[in-house]
Amino acid sequence: MSKSPFLFGTTVSVDSFTNREEEVAKLTKNLTQGINTMLISPRRWGKSSLVEKVIYKLNTEKSQFRTVSIDLFSVSSEEEFLELFAKEVIKASSSVLQDWVNAGKEFFQQLIPKLSLGLDPLTDFSLSFDWNELKKHRTEILNLPEKIAEAKGIEFIICLDEFQNLSSFQEYEQLEKAMRATWQRQKKVTYCLYGSKRHMMTDIFNNPSKPFYRFGAILMLQKIKREKWISFIVDSFAQTNKTISLEVATWIPTLMKDHSWYVQQLAHYTWQSTDKVAGIEEINNALQELIHANSPLYQREIETLSTTQVNLLKAISSNESKLSSKESILKYHLGTSASVTKNKGILINADVITDENGTLEFLDPAFELWFQKLFFRKSFELK
Ligand SMILES: Nc1ncnc2c1ncn2[C@@H]1O[C@H](COP(=O)(O)OP(=O)(O)OP(=O)(O)O)[C@@H](O)[C@H]1O
Ligand SMILES: [Mg+2]
Repeated sequence: MSKSPFLFGTTVSVDSFTNREEEVAKLTKNLTQGINTMLISPRRWGKSSLVEKVIYKLNTEKSQFRTVSIDLFSVSSEEEFLELFAKEVIKASSSVLQDWVNAGKEFFQQLIPKLSLGLDPLTDFSLSFDWNELKKHRTEILNLPEKIAEAKGIEFIICLDEFQNLSSFQEYEQLEKAMRATWQRQKKVTYCLYGSKRHMMTDIFNNPSKPFYRFGAILMLQKIKREKWISFIVDSFAQTNKTISLEVATWIPTLMKDHSWYVQQLAHYTWQSTDKVAGIEEINNALQELIHANSPLYQREIETLSTTQVNLLKAISSNESKLSSKESILKYHLGTSASVTKNKGILINADVITDENGTLEFLDPAFELWFQKLFFRKSFELK
């Protein structure tokens, strides 16, 4: 049996990566021309995959650029962040162990790094510092890439995923100011900062009263176009000796509203339940499976909401346009018009809904199908 051509739950940068030619070109151009770039989109539309693709491309082309990518998801203190940052920068600057040891001596003035070799000393090591010293001299770490780049005649591209996680650190405001002040002046280092909490990211980078305001270009990542998804699905089926017609394939991105993660997931289940030719029956089976697989997640999501918030979702899901009107408030039990406004804000902030030119929509297409089935007994079977 051949492997599924569709992937979800992990970043896709080589296999299963599709389209995004313009975004790849734009991001590559920015990062190689010294323009710091922030990437923002709702969850699972493909930020990490896009950056991974660009990094992969840059690494395979021989150039003066050294790339560093760090996922800050599991980093829980400033100390850990600074140590990891220093380590990854040193590691990317050379593949030679002796250079790493030298870097520890050569590039620090105030701080004294303790370097210990990892299980495989040829590929790994760790750095640590005295915490009190580190706090006093954090800029020495933040400026490390510039110093190494100057000394070695190279340039760094540094990508930090889940950047908004830093804002939970105890002394974040000081760190934030130091990062901005130091990174701003660097000539040989370019940053790509992105993360899955859209509203936190927007607040960090788009708020005039915050240090990172106007740090660089903000790229709002859009969805992949439906036509592109359709041809990707049809081709991927064909390459694995199965068939799906244009018409049937169209259902997949249509049902999933072109949401990257869900299109891959629904395409995968459809592919899996197809023996030779995929039809509506296979799509229906796949959709059942998808909703079933995700329902514990949706259940948990609903449990975090108040009754009036759930009621507001019901109204939105019924395409009610005048949510604050007396009629809607009575019909859906929305509380008061003040609570409608407040709940709208909360749901938007939590990325449950989004305001598309004045119309409120669910952000998660499968959650919406699940929700409609649960509350309105609406069937999502295609006929
Ligand atoms: N260019 C692409 N081509 C095909 N599938 C993609 C592409 N980009 C993303 N995907 C699909 O979407 C899923 C989510 O992608 P990714 O993890 O890159 O998104 P993200 O925006 O970083 O998500 P999060 O906000 O959760 O960090 C992938 O697992 C993959 O299935
Ligand atoms: Mg991501």
